[in-house]
Formats: sequence, C-alpha cells, structure tokens
Amino acid sequence: MDWQGAHVVVTGGSSGIGEAVALEAARRRARVTLVARTSSRLDEAASRIRAGARGSVVGVVSADVSDQAAITAALDRAAAERGPVDVLVCSAGVTRPGRFLELDDDVFRSMIDIDYYGTLWPVRCVAPAMVERGSGSIVGVSSAAGLVGVYGYSAYGAAKFAVRGLLESLRTELAPHGVHVGCAYPPDVDTPMLAEEEPFKPAETKAIAGAIKPISAQQVAAAILAGIDGHKAEIYADPQTRALARTVAAAPAVYRRLFDRRVRQTPL
Ligand SMILES: NC(=O)c1ccc[n+]([C@@H]2O[C@H](COP(=O)([O-])OP(=O)(O)OC[C@H]3O[C@@H](n4cnc5c(N)ncnc54)[C@H](OP(=O)(O)O)[C@@H]3O)[C@@H](O)[C@H]2O)c1
Repeated sequence: MDWQGAHVVVTGGSSGIGEAVALEAARRRARVTLVARTSSRLDEAASRIRAGARGSVVGVVSADVSDQAAITAALDRAAAERGPVDVLVCSAGVTRPGRFLELDDDVFRSMIDIDYYGTLWPVRCVAPAMVERGSGSIVGVSSAAGLVGVYGYSAYGAAKFAVRGLLESLRTELAPHGVHVGCAYPPDVDTPMLAEEEPFKPAETKAIAGAIKPISAQQVAAAILAGIDGHKAEIYADPQTRALARTVAAAPAVYRRLFDRRVRQTPL
C-alpha cells in the first residue's frame, strides 16, 4: 500500500482505535478524514493528529454512521475535498453489555443500527468507486465477541457477528475487482469505550475475560495498517485472539466448555 497522499477515511476517528488508525496513517503521509458525531471531539482529535504527524492533512466530517443519507453526503464531501477514498476503516461503534433478560429492547436495535448499519452504509458509499478504479481497501472493526458467543454480549456480539458476515461475503465479491476487504477482531482495548462499558458488565462477563489485560489502541492500529498492507482478510492485534479464532473454528466446544465453566464458577 502506498500511503503517501492516499485518502484514508476513518469512522470513529475521534477516539480510541479509530484515532490511533488515523494518526498512524497520517504519520505515513496519508490524507486523513475523521468521521464521528461530536464536532468538538473531532476537532480535538484532528489537533492531536496534526501535532503527532507534523504537516499532515486532516479533515473532519460530523455524521451519524447509522444514518445512510447523512454518512453518504459526508463521505461524498470528504472525497470532493481530499480525493477519492483509497482506504476506509469503519471503527465507529458502541457497546452495551448486560444480561439478555435485563437489557432494554432498544439496546439490541442501537447495536445493529450503529455497529452493523454504521459499517454497511460507509462501505456501500465507497465500494462502487473503488471497484471502478480497481483498487482500495475496506476494513471493518468487529470484536473477539464477533468470533465466539460471550456471556453479556447478546446485543453487541450479534451486531459484531453481522459485521464479520458482511465483510467475509464482501471480500469474495470485491477481491476480483482488486479491492481488499478485511475484518479486525480486537480483544479488550484500553479506550473510552472500555471504560464506559465497565459498570454495565455482569460479573460473568468479567470472569470470562479473566486476568487478560486490555491492549492499547496503538497496537490495534498497527495491526490494521499491517493488515491493509498485507491485504489480510482477518486482522488480529494479539496472539490470544488469533488462537481463539483458530480454536473456535476447529473445535468450537472447547471455548463453550471453558466459558461455561467460568460462568458457573462466578459467585452469584
Ligand atoms: N475498546 C474495546 O475494548 C473494543 C474491543 C473490540 C472491538 N472494539 C470496537 O472497536 C471500535 C472502536 O472502539 P473504541 O474502543 O475505539 O471506542 P471509542 O473510543 O468509544 O470510540 C468510538 C468512536 O465512534 C464514534 N461513534 C460512535 N457512534 C457513532 C455514530 N453513530 N456515528 C458516528 N460515529 C460514532 C465516536 O464518536 P461520537 O460518539 O462523537 O460519534 C468515537 O469516535 C468499535 O467498533 C468497537 O466496537 C472495541
């Protein structure tokens, strides 16, 4: 991937993993567009990126990724200002853990609206031009909870499985046109999202994570950029999640047994 001068759009670029991806791309001399809802956070992130990558071109657009008309107009504007989109990283997302029987109905809908449709609509917007040019890279951010069923993530995990299903199918359709599609599977990552979800996590969800420490957003960003460079279909930022994916694919009962045991052993 020739990053210099490439136009890299990052949804969720004002925080956490998205911001780290944008900074890394800017350091490689890409032109970057950050997308998120809150203008003040976008402006703050753009300043941090300009400070971390001197001379970089960083634009911001405020839009809700779950609103197809709004995100399409925003990305069209970004393309008019900074050129056709060469790389799209869909990192915008929300989470709300909780026991299925205790979650409100609207949590299930908002996870699908933002995490799934919020990935689909930007991809729908940029894919036709990438196919026409015969190049480009699209990466979505699923989760380890998009690889295996995790207690407390019936709303979030369903949306992240959907992201994975979308990108796995799309990869097969766009590869013949020279367009790379990949999906990232981060474990717990030290970002504002992780801090915000903590109070809502059932004890069983915490027990499943065990003593594994969150990794940094920078580690995930480095893996995503390497995944784009290597046209990887699956992007892992740590060996544990890679091993989880391999084991779940080969022997799904292993993790079911392990996770069920941790749930049983969690004191009520
Ligand atoms: N942190 C983890 O442990 C972890 C683990 C696995 C996967 N992930 C996934 O990684 C991605 C990034 O997470 P993060 O930890 O970096 O979260 P974060 O720090 O909370 O950042 C989320 C970003 O998404 C934006 N966003 C949220 N809803 C949006 C919407 N409807 N439209 C446009 N932008 C929206 C936020 O800005 P505004 O709120 O201003 O819009 C913010 O820029 C998410 O998809 C998440 O599910 C995270």
